[in-house]
Amino acid sequence: MNKVLLCITGASGAIYGYRLLEVLSKEHRVDLVVSDSGRIVLREELSKDVSALAQMENVSVYENRDLTAPVASGSRLIEYRGVIVAPCSMSTLASVAKGINDNLIHRACEVALKERVPLVLLVREMPYSKVHISNMLEAQEAGAVIMPASPGFYHRPSTLQELVDFVVGKVLDALRIEHGLYRRWKA
Ligand SMILES: Cc1cc2nc3c(=O)[nH]c(=O)nc-3n(C[C@H](O)[C@H](O)[C@H](O)COP(=O)(O)O)c2cc1C
Repeated sequence: MNKVLLCITGASGAIYGYRLLEVLSKEHRVDLVVSDSGRIVLREELSKDVSALAQMENVSVYENRDLTAPVASGSRLIEYRGVIVAPCSMSTLASVAKGINDNLIHRACEVALKERVPLVLLVREMPYSKVHISNMLEAQEAGAVIMPASPGFYHRPSTLQELVDFVVGKVLDALRIEHGLYRRWKA
């Protein structure tokens, strides 16, 4: 079974991380790390606790302070199909861009960049400052795929779920993972 590392940080949009977990865990083993702020936003926006996510099939949860977890090591992370940070806060983006790591999420992102494991950052803030934009550029130039959590509307969504699935589908596209979450453009 393919493995994916999913990290949920404290930006708004916990629903993207949760939906990714639901979809990915059907056919992948998902290692999940949720930052302290990610836990707060999960509760605030979805009334969910990490303990409930840990009960899902094919999901293993690691503590963000646990720098001994397998995904902190390049020799293990290369076994993964990719690393996704969704949603990705500006704080975590900054750590990734600057190579600062004092938690497992930052460390796994750094390892993904050095080992060329695909890294997707689903960033969310509004508006962006110059600092945010230059951090995005730095992270992108270092090899990360920067995806703004902004859905398209050409598939004419009529529900929140369709909007979320559009963004989640785009994240899966970046890792070349097949899905049927949104209708592709047909000219
Ligand atoms: C309800 C709520 C919503 C937030 N939304 C955002 C956001 O959209 N983008 C962002 O960068 N930070 C947001 N924050 C602030 C981050 O949680 C904060 O910067 C935190 O330090 C991020 O840490 P982390 O990257 O380790 O999760 C939000 C915080 C709360 C409580």
